[in-house]
Amino acid sequence: MESLEDFYKDSLVILESVEKELLLRIDLLRHYYVLSGHTDPVEHCKSRIKTPYSMKEKLKRKGLEQTVEVALSEVYDAVGIRIVCQFVDDVYQMVELLKKQDDIKIINEKDYIANPKDNGYRSYHVIVSIPIHLSDFTKEMYAEIQIRTIAMDSWAALEHELRYKHTIPNAKMLAKELKRCADEIASTDLTLQTIRNVIIESE
Ligand code: GTP
Ligand code: MG
Repeated sequence: MESLEDFYKDSLVILESVEKELLLRIDLLRHYYVLSGHTDPVEHCKSRIKTPYSMKEKLKRKGLEQTVEVALSEVYDAVGIRIVCQFVDDVYQMVELLKKQDDIKIINEKDYIANPKDNGYRSYHVIVSIPIHLSDFTKEMYAEIQIRTIAMDSWAALEHELRYKHTIPNAKMLAKELKRCADEIASTDLTLQTIRNVIIESE
């Protein structure tokens, strides 16, 4: 199996910087937000650098050359960050806090919470670019940030398994059940949010 170093070469250290930088900023946002009297909007964060295999598959799918140069200029999710929140409002709060960062540019955003995918997938996706300062130049690097609730996250993990395991019997029926779960989760997420709002307002 091709290692991250084999494929990304000298750019790996830059990708790792993007990953660390974004995680650090999210961490700081959380702390600062809590210090100013709010509850922590984040349950946990995860991050990954796209595997060479998955990156090459994506380049192939897009009809692009399978090189690191093309990968870093044409594919936006070489670095992926996932922010998992307890409540739906926290998801939108994190989007706003990220948008306030002066040097982070929003390249694209998709609100799959307001507009879920047909299979029931919900999440807020933001493609950002962030400057990484090197000794003699600054590079604008892309990253994909997915923000979702804990319940949406559990759902997506299960749906992902179903999608990639082609030997599962009754996959069609399971997909239908999953869609039903996604809608129930969305409804429960809303109720939890409402209860929380009542609690906050009564404080
Ligand atoms: P790629 O899927 O990255 O080629 O680009 P796209 O333009 O379709 O982006 P989109 O924002 O729809 O999805 C990007 C990422 O979100 C995926 O790589 C997954 O991590 C996640 N995602 C999107 N749709 C689904 C879904 O239906 N189920 C699950 N489990 N994850 C999804
Ligand atoms: Mg996709």
